[in-house]
Amino acid sequence: MPVELLFPTLIYSAPLARRVPGLNARLLRECLQLREDDAAGRRWSERRYPGGFTSYGSVHRLHEISPTFDDLRVKLDGHVRRYARALQLDLSGRRLAMTDCWVNIMPHQVTHGLHVHPLSTISGTYYVRTPARCSPLKFEDPRLAGYMAAPPRRPQAPRAMQPWVSVPARAGRVVLFESWLRHEVPPNPSAGERISISFNYNWF
Ligand code: NI
Repeated sequence: MPVELLFPTLIYSAPLARRVPGLNARLLRECLQLREDDAAGRRWSERRYPGGFTSYGSVHRLHEISPTFDDLRVKLDGHVRRYARALQLDLSGRRLAMTDCWVNIMPHQVTHGLHVHPLSTISGTYYVRTPARCSPLKFEDPRLAGYMAAPPRRPQAPRAMQPWVSVPARAGRVVLFESWLRHEVPPNPSAGERISISFNYNWF
């Protein structure tokens, strides 16, 4: 076919590490403890994250206050470097570093609507606890707003050409994306709590 593929959108998904003895268990404990301790976060979540808990509006630099979250940050730095290489980003002269890192706990039916991560370069999520059939992370084709009269895609079109693509949430794995890419977490159909740690990296 005389066509070429242009403007790809790259999503990174990998296990955090081959062996992380105890790190996930320590993160899980601290996520649940934070929900107990963070009254400001619970109040913030009541208004903006109904039914769930997020420390996004209260304790959002966890890598600076918790050695456990800083251990996670060290592991994530390597993944972000690999992803930035795949994206062909020229990072010379400035440093790509974690700016925010926060906890999300989503019980049954809790949802997180479409959004981007403004003022960041690379964002992502590490999955701590993912009950069977819990919500994936769902990405939207960034060109969707410009489609206007474009016909729909065939249902059997390849995954890379679908207008919405879901990446399953799996405990122990990290997913990275460029911060401008719109995404959402659909209502969690599983009975158990879906627990994740989200983060932003910026280029200074
Ligand atoms: Ni997000």
